[in-house]
Amino acid sequence: MKTRRWLYPAALIGAAAALAASARAELPKPGALAKPAPETQAGFPRALYRATGADGYDAPDKVALGEKLFFDGRLSADGTVSCATCHDPDKGFTDHRATSQGIKSQKGQRNAPTVLNALYNDSQFWDGRAAHLEDQAKLPILNPIEMGQKTPADVVAALEKIPEYPPAFQKAFGHPVNYDDLGRAIAAYERTQTATSSRFDRFLAGDEGQLNPQEKRGWALFNGKGRCMSCHAFNPTQPTFSDNKFHNIGVSAHKQNFPDLAKKALKLVDSGNAEAVDRAAIETDLSELGRFLVTTQPKDIGTFKTPGLRNLFVTQPYFHDGSQATVWDVIDHYNKGGVQNPFLDGGITRLGLTEPEIDDLVVFLAALSSDRYEAASKKELARQRTVSRTTRPQRDTAAALGKTALSAGLKGPFGDVAPNADLKDPSRIGGR
Ligand code: HEC
Ligand code: HEC
Repeated sequence: MKTRRWLYPAALIGAAAALAASARAELPKPGALAKPAPETQAGFPRALYRATGADGYDAPDKVALGEKLFFDGRLSADGTVSCATCHDPDKGFTDHRATSQGIKSQKGQRNAPTVLNALYNDSQFWDGRAAHLEDQAKLPILNPIEMGQKTPADVVAALEKIPEYPPAFQKAFGHPVNYDDLGRAIAAYERTQTATSSRFDRFLAGDEGQLNPQEKRGWALFNGKGRCMSCHAFNPTQPTFSDNKFHNIGVSAHKQNFPDLAKKALKLVDSGNAEAVDRAAIETDLSELGRFLVTTQPKDIGTFKTPGLRNLFVTQPYFHDGSQATVWDVIDHYNKGGVQNPFLDGGITRLGLTEPEIDDLVVFLAALSSDRYEAASKKELARQRTVSRTTRPQRDTAAALGKTALSAGLKGPFGDVAPNADLKDPSRIGGR
């Protein structure tokens, strides 16, 4: 008994120490998946990469400095959050949360997109408020609920005190530490995070056998009956499956009154001020206005950037608010024609996809996973498939097949615009 009395406090102290260590250990370390991805990978858009002329593989000192900064919690006000906290390479450079969490566990309004292939985006963020990776990197550090630094000067002062940084900045840029070069170094590192090299890339390169028949049917549906290709464009200048444009597909329509919100935004937000827009987007309910916060154009109300579709099964959950847990849920959203609102994109209409067709589309999308993430992606696809057999919150088969409108006397979600479900639909190219 006597020894026990001593054991208890020891165990408690041990647990407390383990807790403290795990709080510190939460900052992701730069493991194998953090390293620059090989330029030799299948599907690497070499000509496009060269055409940008920006720093990347050719600037190894900047890349090395950028990698160090990306994983360094000391960029945040209290040392607890790094870029990698929300963009963890082991989680496909995301955080697997619906919306991100910054210093002092403060929750933002938006889902963290992946950094993988972000170099090919025409603009950065869901609303495109940053033009380049260089501009983008400077914003989260100053956002009060992400990394919480007050001014660029504070960040520079903090880095100057860390012995390894002044010589690393000097070596990479020939200057002492400064905020613009910090943005440049991080951007150079991010430009080494191309993740193509999927079975689909090898299929396109001529190896037919890389896709099985179900995946090939999914690719046909993607281009035809599913109409996905009209926004998730794929061609030599758009290698990530995004048209780089902004569309209202109705994701936030069910929780917002857009006109009221837009009026409020016009009073509160100076659209010309990137930091003001950043705060509104990350911290307030104005976030749901999307691109409107940047342009104040009514056509942009509730529009968000078309995200790329590579590596989807390591970047869950989905949409700008992380509102959908599985790719099946995302496709159910499209299948019923999105969520109606006055600003809905003209490209969104009910699709009439059958259950096997939805499965075909999902497995095709999984074939876009990079080799580096093949194992994790397979596991997540299996998990989502299991969930999808019992839980389908977005499924509305009647609406998808145009039956609601007919049986309810044309009072379905599409009013009288729903096509007759019994017509032979010419848009079924690629369908069965
Ligand atoms: C607290 C979590 C958090 C931290 C820390 C964070 N990010 Fe993000 N990141 C996000 C969220 C959320 C978005 C989307 C915000 C939006 O679109 O309004 C985003 C967007 C981005 C994008 C745009 C990608 C795209 O497809 O548009 C890039 C690139 C990026 N972050 C890189 C970084 C870098 C570099 C750092 C460190 C300097 C960083 N992030 C720190 C959460 C975070
Ligand atoms: C009218 C343009 C448009 C069409 C058509 C379209 N998408 Fe999208 N897609 C978008 C936009 C915009 C978003 C982001 C919306 C948001 O988050 O508010 C998105 C988001 C997604 C996402 C979530 C990605 C992520 O990382 O969060 C997936 C998956 C997706 N689309 C797949 C598809 C598939 C499959 C089809 C065809 C059935 C399709 N899309 C058709 C524009 C479109």
